[in-house]
Amino acid sequence: MREQFLTFGRPLIGEEDVAEVLDTLASGWLGTGPKTKLFEARFAEYVGARCAVGVSSCTAALHLGLDLIGVREGDEIITSPLTFPATANVVEHFRARPVFADVDRGTMTIDAGQVEAAVTPRTRAIIPVHLAGRPCDMPKLLEIAGRHGLTVIDDAAHAIEAAVGRLKIGSAGHMTAFSFYVTKNLVTGEGGMLTTDRAEWAESARVRSLHGIDSDAWKRYGAEGFTPYDTVYPGYKYNMTDMQASLGLHQLARLDASLAVRERHWARYDEAFGDLDEVITPMRQPGIRHARHLYTLLLRLECLTIDRNQFVDELKRRRIGAGVHFTALHLHTYYRERYGYTRGMFPNAEWIGDRTVSLPLSAALSDADVDDVVAAVREIVAGNRRAVIPVS
Ligand SMILES: Cc1ncc(COP(=O)(O)O)c(C=O)c1O
Repeated sequence: MREQFLTFGRPLIGEEDVAEVLDTLASGWLGTGPKTKLFEARFAEYVGARCAVGVSSCTAALHLGLDLIGVREGDEIITSPLTFPATANVVEHFRARPVFADVDRGTMTIDAGQVEAAVTPRTRAIIPVHLAGRPCDMPKLLEIAGRHGLTVIDDAAHAIEAAVGRLKIGSAGHMTAFSFYVTKNLVTGEGGMLTTDRAEWAESARVRSLHGIDSDAWKRYGAEGFTPYDTVYPGYKYNMTDMQASLGLHQLARLDASLAVRERHWARYDEAFGDLDEVITPMRQPGIRHARHLYTLLLRLECLTIDRNQFVDELKRRRIGAGVHFTALHLHTYYRERYGYTRGMFPNAEWIGDRTVSLPLSAALSDADVDDVVAAVREIVAGNRRAVIPVS
């Protein structure tokens, strides 16, 4: 048994990250300023987008995206039921309706056929979610969007490094929202980014992310001449700070190296669980670049005497932190009560939501940590195997 609890999603923070944050502290400028601009420029370059706007979270980026296209009460936005609440909550903030389209059981991402079936004259946008780091079928979704005049704002909270063929996530959709929350592939404490190729959207997002005023603090308090600011929109407080950007700058340069470490851990898990009948390892999918954010093991509940929540508890008893990404969102209280959703409506999301366990996966993990996770999973399976599998 491990002595120390293995924290789920522990980030890899290096000396250069600490030095950059200290430099920001010493600079006397902690808010949105030169380091945010630099981080935005380098991020845009990494994902191949023309513009990137640093914000306070992925939630803020998604909300801004919908705000920019003028979503109104009664509009419909199609998204996945297998996601974090934020993806649908931002739609509710406009009194618009999140319309769920079921996912594919193998990829766990939104099924383009279900999206097509969900389009109505009220549909304004699609928010595909690149779950666990696996990119959605963006060419097909963009084709559907093009035919129906919809905007694609993809939720890439898990998927900075992902690509479909040569199409890089961040420059594939019309707008893309990223997260730098504490467990993500790149962390800035809290933080996010909105990328787009449309300069006018980026410019509006920048203004709206800072109260809707036309001159940011760096301009107002900088060395250049004084210009009073004007309010051109009732905006939000969504700006990224130089404190956040300085923490992200060097992680951005290390992204591919960190991905290579997570790929190695991923391969070890695949190999270690390949012979277990009680679990299903993540699907292999040629032609994509998976961002390896979450290693999601699916439990064959019919082969086990415990359910998923008990499985996660067993991991924790062995001092291994684990997560669940996600339980199907349409079955959460708010969405059930507001829209009358019930079990059976999105069967694939429900099936995955009942069985999925995310194992620790981070560039901060040592090979010995990964061995501990493997040993714990194998021990739990061995100790809770169903002797006779019920015939359904
Ligand atoms: C799929 C997904 N979308 C959106 C978010 C929201 O990200 P943030 O915490 O940066 O607002 C998360 C956060 O975990 C997420 O997993």
